[in-house]
This record gives sequence, C-alpha cells and structure tokens, in this order.
Amino acid sequence: MNVLVAVASRHGATWEIGASITSVLAARGHHAELLEPAQVSSVAAYDAAVIGSAVYLTNLLPDARNLVDRFGTELGALPLWLFASGLAAPSSGARTTIELAALGEQLGARDHRLFRGRLDRAGLSFAERVAAAGVLNREGDHRDFTAIERWAGGIADELEQVQAERARATA
Ligand SMILES: Cc1cc2nc3c(=O)[nH]c(=O)nc-3n(C[C@H](O)[C@H](O)[C@H](O)COP(=O)(O)O)c2cc1C
Repeated sequence: MNVLVAVASRHGATWEIGASITSVLAARGHHAELLEPAQVSSVAAYDAAVIGSAVYLTNLLPDARNLVDRFGTELGALPLWLFASGLAAPSSGARTTIELAALGEQLGARDHRLFRGRLDRAGLSFAERVAAAGVLNREGDHRDFTAIERWAGGIADELEQVQAERARATA
C-alpha cells in the first residue's frame, strides 16, 4: 500500500521517529513516503497515512494542524494513525494527550500515541530555552525506538488486514 508519513518537526527528533516508522512499513512491503507537511500537495495517491508532530508549549506544531486543515476530509477517509513526541511529565502532558485524542476522534484515526522525545539544550535558541523552561530538566534523548517500532509493526499488521478485506471485497 502507498502510505504517507507526514511529520512536523523543529529539531529532528520527531522526524527521526517518522523515519523509523517509515522503515518498518517499508520492510513490511509498503511504499511508505516520509514528507514534511508543507511538502504534501495532495493525498489522493495514498491508501493510508501516519501524521506526526513535535509538541511545543503543549500544542502540536502548526504545520501538522495545517495539513489536517487542508486535507482533513481525505485523510479521515483513509486508515490513519497519529503520533506526537514531547517531554512533559504525564500531568502536564495531559493537555497534549487530550488534543491528540480529540484530533484522532475528529479524523477517525485508528490509534494515536504520545512518544517521549529528545531535547538538546545546545541546539535551542535563547527564546526556545526560555520557552522550554518547563521541560529543560528533561534534557536528553528519551525516545524509545523499540516501542516506536512495535507501534509501527501494529500499523503494518492492520494494513495487511485492510488489504485482505479489500481483496475479499473485490473477489
Ligand atoms: C521551546 C520548547 C517547548 C517545549 N514544550 C513542550 C511541551 O509543552 N510539552 C512537551 O511534552 N514537550 C515540550 N517540548 C519538548 C519537545 O516536544 C521535544 O523535545 C520533542 O521531541 C522535539 O521534537 P523535534 O526535535 O522534532 O522538534 C518543548 C521543547 C522546546 C524546545
């Protein structure tokens, strides 16, 4: 199947999560294409989609929202998965989880997941360091690629089911 993996990232951590998901889907025989949301000019060629975003100040990045604003109806008609990467403690991360869940419900996503991300203080501008005050004590790479690959494997499993259902329907 042709799968769009569209990822909004500022410092690369979420992008690399998207790359990992793309690799798993490709290894399972899908044509998975990793793009920035702004590079997506149409979703007509895709059979399924995975949309990811970094979390900044408890929100998904505007580019990810913008993609949903442009193609929400089409994306909602596809088998769809959402993920985000952030570093807030579960208590303050709740707002993000609620936003992710609401978006998932709006689009009829099959699943949504908040992964832990990466923060490298040295790569931040002064303004970002100030804005990141609440999460700066979580500096480091907290991404769990085993969990990410497991999640992507689950997506591949579901895509196989979708393919089998489609084959039965056209038989
Ligand atoms: C300015 C700033 C604000 C952030 N705000 C949040 C936040 O509100 N909640 C959260 O969970 N993580 C927050 N983070 C952590 C990032 O979401 C995390 O580092 C993420 O993995 C970065 O992804 P990226 O490298 O793809 O941009 C913030 C990081 C920065 C630098």
